[in-house]
Amino acid sequence: MDEWHGKTAVVTGASGGIGEAIAATAASLGMNLVLADIDGEGLQAVESDLKARGAQVVSAITDVGQLADVEALAETAYAQFGAVHLLFNNAGTMTPGSLLKLPLDDMRRMIDTNLWGTLYGMKVFMPKMLADGAGHVVNTSSLNGLLAYPAMGVYNGTKAAIISISETLFHELKARRLPIGVSVVCPGAVKKKRVAGMTGQGSQSADDKISKVREATGISAEQVADCIFEGLARNRFWIFTHHNFHDALSARVDAMIHERTPEFELPV
Ligand SMILES: NC(=O)c1ccc[n+]([C@@H]2O[C@H](COP(=O)([O-])OP(=O)(O)OC[C@H]3O[C@@H](n4cnc5c(N)ncnc54)[C@H](O)[C@@H]3O)[C@@H](O)[C@H]2O)c1
Repeated sequence: MDEWHGKTAVVTGASGGIGEAIAATAASLGMNLVLADIDGEGLQAVESDLKARGAQVVSAITDVGQLADVEALAETAYAQFGAVHLLFNNAGTMTPGSLLKLPLDDMRRMIDTNLWGTLYGMKVFMPKMLADGAGHVVNTSSLNGLLAYPAMGVYNGTKAAIISISETLFHELKARRLPIGVSVVCPGAVKKKRVAGMTGQGSQSADDKISKVREATGISAEQVADCIFEGLARNRFWIFTHHNFHDALSARVDAMIHERTPEFELPV
């Protein structure tokens, strides 16, 4: 992992959870950090903590769903450190609820943050990485991108899109022999105090089911960050944190291929 020493990572959604853990791991590897989050207070706390541990850190309050904010983030990053070697498009939000009931504003926020946030990150940073001749984009999807978890339809859709876009990008970069890499991270349940973006607009029963799965199979954000850096060290496109989904994914693909009615089984 020495390869990252003195290099620069941009981490979106860095105020807590997986983003904070990615930033802490990157700092422990000697990386310079550019932290971005919509939550300025949390961002300040993480920046202070990492600086106290000796890391070079700059942060920028950023709504990743706003192109101008992501462009400003890139300006900050390049002005401070001159190059970006790792871009973690990690910021995400999830409000559970039935597709019939979930308010449009909640749907829009998930699409803006999860999907547009990832696309803006790629569009803004990749040309600069290409100009520098190196870089790696790490997009955070989820097992929700592979399985149609009930009561999470729009979130599932954004995460499925991130997988599809990342995989297509991988093929495009390879076909053109361009010098940047791409990985997609598909975490399973991560133990945390609150579920990302829960606003009370979703369904209580969905919240309860998600909390139970989280308790049963959840790992820590720090473990997710370790999986990610291990995946990067092995130059992996697919980075998984759990392997309890294989049967459910195989059953889904098998039903698809044989045009059977879809069924859903929660991986536990
Ligand atoms: N927690 C899980 O079980 C789990 C599982 C699979 C995938 N994920 C994904 O991992 C990523 C990180 O999730 P987490 O569990 O650490 O959640 P979290 O809520 O702890 O952290 C998400 C961070 O993103 C920030 N954020 C939200 N909207 C933003 C926006 N528009 N612009 C900038 N920042 C914004 C939040 O303020 C927060 O700090 C997300 O993409 C999430 O979908 C999480």
